[in-house]
Amino acid sequence: MSNLHGRQAAWSRYWRHGALHSLPDDFDGNYAGTIRAFWLRQFQTLASDQRVLDIGTGNGALPQLVCQACTGATPHVDAIDLAEISPDWIASQPGACRDSLHFHSGVSAEALPFPDRSFDLATSQYGIEYCDAARTVPELARVLKPGGRVALLLHHHDSRLAEVAREELRLADWLLQEGGFLDCLEAIIPRVAQAASAEGRERLRADPSANRAREDFNRAMQALATAAAASPFPDLLEEARAFSAQALNALQGESAADILSRCHEYRESLQDARLRYAELCECAMDEATVASFARRLADSGLVAIRYAPISHDNGMLMGWTLVASAAEA
Ligand SMILES: C[S@@+](CC[C@H](N)C(=O)[O-])C[C@H]1O[C@@H](n2cnc3c(N)ncnc32)[C@H](O)[C@@H]1O
Repeated sequence: MSNLHGRQAAWSRYWRHGALHSLPDDFDGNYAGTIRAFWLRQFQTLASDQRVLDIGTGNGALPQLVCQACTGATPHVDAIDLAEISPDWIASQPGACRDSLHFHSGVSAEALPFPDRSFDLATSQYGIEYCDAARTVPELARVLKPGGRVALLLHHHDSRLAEVAREELRLADWLLQEGGFLDCLEAIIPRVAQAASAEGRERLRADPSANRAREDFNRAMQALATAAAASPFPDLLEEARAFSAQALNALQGESAADILSRCHEYRESLQDARLRYAELCECAMDEATVASFARRLADSGLVAIRYAPISHDNGMLMGWTLVASAAEA
């Protein structure tokens, strides 16, 4: 995937806000249901003297599950991510768990800083498919001990997550486009602030561009309502509508400059979210892609490779699970 620096910065900003994982709209706490059950099965045979590698760990949703699955006998976990991560939850964990987890920010899966044959289990949850497979898979094979295992949860092209990401990518582009909703909102803010005084209102009446800005904003609001009604996943548009109402309301007590700087932050967070949706769409695997990923693992010497779709308890498709092993010595 392109623009490494931009991706790294966008994910770092996301993790800094403290989310445990990348699907806060789908899971309140940690992953639950069939996904949690899949991971608990992978972790149940781990012993405290074993070592686990988690790739693309984010704020450590999987390491947290390792702690929950292996209470009192937590294996040594190295959790890596290209981004700067902030797994603050670890501070409140029992000592045994805290001492076992080792988070490494700014580490790329394509160049793992671990010796050959280090790990008994390598995991990744919606992480490894974001990496360059040609360079990451040989690295993964290199750091596994003989007989070591791999367990992955990968994005599926037809999952609800990918479907939502495709729609949200389209809606983010719509909001951010030149002359679009955000531009119209930013253009109207100084005018609304000006209308607070009689003198300001007088100047606005003599300014044709102010009238145009008002008409453009009204049209943008109408277009937003129409687009929201037509979208199967309109959350992003509802958020934009709520944000604009709050911003305009806040002009009663705050300066236009302060509100515009809030608009700027909102635009940046939308640009970051856009990048995350685009990445998800790009890396989500159809049957042919997951088969080719499995062939890559086999080419790097992994055996017993099995993959299958995984769905939520309610039947909603959530991804692919893939398990494999390194050959015994
Ligand atoms: C969708 S998030 C998943 C995070 C976590 N595993 C979870 O389940 O919540 C993908 C993560 O992969 C990381 N990532 C992307 N490319 C990477 C690379 N080449 N090496 C290491 N991490 C990478 C991103 O920074 C991001 O934190």
